[in-house]
Amino acid sequence: MIDERRSSTVERNDFLSLLLQARDEDGSKMSDQQAIDECLTLFAAGHETTAIALIWAWYLLCQHPDIYQKLQQEVDCVLQGRTPTYADLPRLPYCLQVFKETMRLYSPGYTVSRQALHDVEIDGYLVPKGATVLVSSYTIHRRPEYFPEPERFEPERFTPEREKRLPRHAYIPFGVGPRICIGNHFALMEGQLLLATLAQRATFTLVPGQRIKPDPEHNLALRPNGKVKVVVKKREHLDLP
Ligand code: HEM
Repeated sequence: MIDERRSSTVERNDFLSLLLQARDEDGSKMSDQQAIDECLTLFAAGHETTAIALIWAWYLLCQHPDIYQKLQQEVDCVLQGRTPTYADLPRLPYCLQVFKETMRLYSPGYTVSRQALHDVEIDGYLVPKGATVLVSSYTIHRRPEYFPEPERFEPERFTPEREKRLPRHAYIPFGVGPRICIGNHFALMEGQLLLATLAQRATFTLVPGQRIKPDPEHNLALRPNGKVKVVVKKREHLDLP
């Protein structure tokens, strides 16, 4: 694809073209290897994370029919059967709350790491130069002083008023600081839009008898321990295309 794109004269307004057009301060282009590395990073960082967050969202929605119903009501009422677009997002706040609350409980990037550049003491602990420190959003997101009854799935925690009251860094699904996820706004938009689109078109029901739990041992991102089986039923009554 890189070869093809380099030799093509057709203007394409997409990410690969932007990468290939990018120039360093000295005017030099990316090598093929650099372009491959950039693309792979974006695939790995940007694809699986959102997909996994959505798996957990449907898993949680299926277990909370009242919340699921509220989500579907918002979507049906706002969209009236139209396919959602970017412009609809401000009128679909509950979809965003559901997505954020999902990532509180099952943050696909459940841990971020930093390496100490020099010896440093943090709260009485010496972190020696070179040591790797893991910061677990999985644990931070379950602090009861900020998230009462932390194991409860409660999208109301992320109404704009309540979210504003959260202290900085109490909720860090995208990490923090200069290396914060570069795709965080995009991911939130993607999650909200996909939840709305899917809730509008189908109803998911969990196949009973599954023991689903997060499996941090085998994956970089917080996947479920196996497949999450659901029955997908098209929502006919909406007269959708
Ligand atoms: C729900 C979706 C996503 C989650 C939960 C997520 C989470 C994270 C986390 C925790 C980090 C590490 C931040 C740190 O070390 O402080 C990260 C980094 C990164 N993410 Fe995401 N991410 C998501 C979606 C995306 C998307 C859609 C893209 C691209 C379009 C993306 C691109 C990246 C890149 C390139 C980095 C490395 C940034 C750097 O080191 O400077 N991510 N992400």
